[in-house]
Amino acid sequence: MQKFIVEGGRKLRGEITLQGSKNSSLPIMAAAILCGEECTLRNCPALTDVYAASRILNCVGCRCMFSGNTAVIDSTSLSGTEIPEELMHEMRSSIIFMGAMLGRTGECTVSVPGGCELGPRPIDMHLAAMKKMGVDIRDSGGQIVCRTRKGRAKGTKLSLSFPSVGATENIILCAVTAEGETVINNAAREPEICDLCGFLRACGADIKGDGGSRIVINGREQLHGCDYAIMPDRIAGATYLSMTAAAGGEIILTEACVPEMEPFLNVLEQTGCSIYSRGSRIYLRSGSRLRAVSDRIRTMPHPGFPTDAQAVLMAALAAADGTSVFEENIFDCRYRHTEALVKMGADIQVLGKVAIVRGVQRLHGANVEATDLRGGAAMICAALAAEGTSEITRIEHINRGYEKIEDAVTALGGSIRRA
Ligand code: EPZ
Repeated sequence: MQKFIVEGGRKLRGEITLQGSKNSSLPIMAAAILCGEECTLRNCPALTDVYAASRILNCVGCRCMFSGNTAVIDSTSLSGTEIPEELMHEMRSSIIFMGAMLGRTGECTVSVPGGCELGPRPIDMHLAAMKKMGVDIRDSGGQIVCRTRKGRAKGTKLSLSFPSVGATENIILCAVTAEGETVINNAAREPEICDLCGFLRACGADIKGDGGSRIVINGREQLHGCDYAIMPDRIAGATYLSMTAAAGGEIILTEACVPEMEPFLNVLEQTGCSIYSRGSRIYLRSGSRLRAVSDRIRTMPHPGFPTDAQAVLMAALAAADGTSVFEENIFDCRYRHTEALVKMGADIQVLGKVAIVRGVQRLHGANVEATDLRGGAAMICAALAAEGTSEITRIEHINRGYEKIEDAVTALGGSIRRA
């Protein structure tokens, strides 16, 4: 079991280039199944979740080769329609392969996916939408067996009860080769949905309205391969900015997606950090001490404040002047990192979906365990700001979403090593 050892108290200073987005790469890798040819994906981050997606592709007969941050996926030779349970359990995004497999072959066998422990993460919306698109779904000894009636799903009008990112992606994947028109009302508007649609359009799909809450898709019989660059990771960006805000210093993020990061940047700016952007560069200089954020920080679907940035910002605000209040509205159980932050000296009270963070003078190092991907990243932010040494275990959670995080922190002058 590997761990990170972090020596806190050093200011961060320097420039880093943002990795490609994990949450775009995974659905786009699944989407590569649909084109039945070779696709080249650039800016694909080297992450354990990306490798888990490539194992799924291999297991259904696709070829997936990596060279640096370029992945070449050839789905010409797709031969299977069943994803084994152990691969489904490796990550939540495995469920996205359902829509892609149905779109390509009209059938698939999957099971309930794994993923970060953020509370119950049902797939009822995914299944209900597939059924409405003419897919027969039955449970066979824990496996979810899906089959379209005529080998092709049927376009239809769908209204989601909540703008689920995964359900929107699954519907899009199934709809791009379905018969007729599919309309998704109350669709998720996350930038990663636009990135997936950008990739699918480059493969010949007919999709309109992504980025808004009504997406219209006209099914095409055949898609083709393409060469596509994945968008930068806005949550990795939020993490490096939060680290610098917490530890103090100056950072330039290059190749960042500035408009997509605005919901986060607008809140971070209220802590007193100076933030400027030009083109795809974001510059942040921390103040001498951070200020608490006076408005309640409510996580909401995009363009609201992102739930994935809640933990890292909380780590920064743990040692700010004043009290900040968070309200987590996306997941039921996304405050598991607070226990570790409290162990590091933070004063945080969790009351249901609200967390009250009373800023302390200084955090101190402690031995803590990463609870989930973003919670683990928050522990690194806190450890960099703290006095003394911290050891963070269960870092396999962190490896799922951050490419060479220790190299990035070291390049900024922070002290972190993997042991
Ligand atoms: C995506 O998860 C992201 N994952 C998550 O990122 C992110 O936190 C989340 O969207 C919200 O932005 C990927 O893109 C791979 P949802 P997803 O479906 O698709 C409930 C990270 O740290 N729901 O929008 O699983 C669900 O339980 C991760 O990178 C149902 O009830 O999120 C949750 O409460 C973690 N039934 C809410 O909706 C369903 O059928 C939002 O889930 C589907 C979802």
